[in-house]
Amino acid sequence: MPSARAFDIRRACSDDARSMALVHLETWKSAYAGIVDEQTLREMSLEESEQRQRRFLGDERYLSFVATVNGQDDVVGFATGGPIRKAVAGYDGELFALHVHPRYQGRGIGTGLMVRFARSMDERGFARMMAWAFSENPARVFYEKREGVFLTESAITVRDQNLRVTSYGWEIPDFLEGPHAKGCS
Ligand SMILES: CC(C)(COP(=O)(O)OP(=O)(O)OC[C@H]1O[C@@H](n2cnc3c(N)ncnc32)[C@H](O)[C@@H]1OP(=O)(O)O)[C@@H](O)C(=O)NCCC(=O)NCCS
Repeated sequence: MPSARAFDIRRACSDDARSMALVHLETWKSAYAGIVDEQTLREMSLEESEQRQRRFLGDERYLSFVATVNGQDDVVGFATGGPIRKAVAGYDGELFALHVHPRYQGRGIGTGLMVRFARSMDERGFARMMAWAFSENPARVFYEKREGVFLTESAITVRDQNLRVTSYGWEIPDFLEGPHAKGCS
């Protein structure tokens, strides 16, 4: 178990696609076991995830940040987002993905990534952002603790499985003035 030490957050580059994909797979397998079908999780492909990360990284509409620890290059978490994908009244921005490797959760990295993402969205002129989480995912409490306002519940299909998803929203300036964001330099 690694000791709690400082982490760094920086803008992601195309070279990070593979390590972001590794974090993506690890967090899905750990956080979504019992929520997403076992077979779906087992068959998740590193290559497909890497391609997906690469598509986001290669498109200037989107913003991705990665977290590293102990001054090393290994990526332990990432946040990706940009303009909202499915219209929600009043919202222009969306956090598509926020993942922290299970071994590094609970030490402020998720919050740090979200704050960094929100700052960049603010700089780009976005006013409000939202995020989706599986309704059954206990980690969605994270969004509630970060002052996310419940927006709506909806359904999605992952392969053939129907899953409920819950969305949360933030006024970006309010979020950046909030207690958790203020603690993140
Ligand atoms: C959600 C996630 C990004 C948080 O990252 P993190 O680095 O652990 O977050 P932080 O250390 O900044 O903050 C952790 C806070 O979230 C809460 N939290 C995180 N996961 C939780 C869970 N499964 N159940 C209850 N609370 C949880 C912690 O209690 C903590 O609250 P506190 O600061 O008030 O004590 C990370 O747990 C993760 O990657 N989870 C799996 C993927 C996922 O579900 N992503 C979408 C988010 S719904």
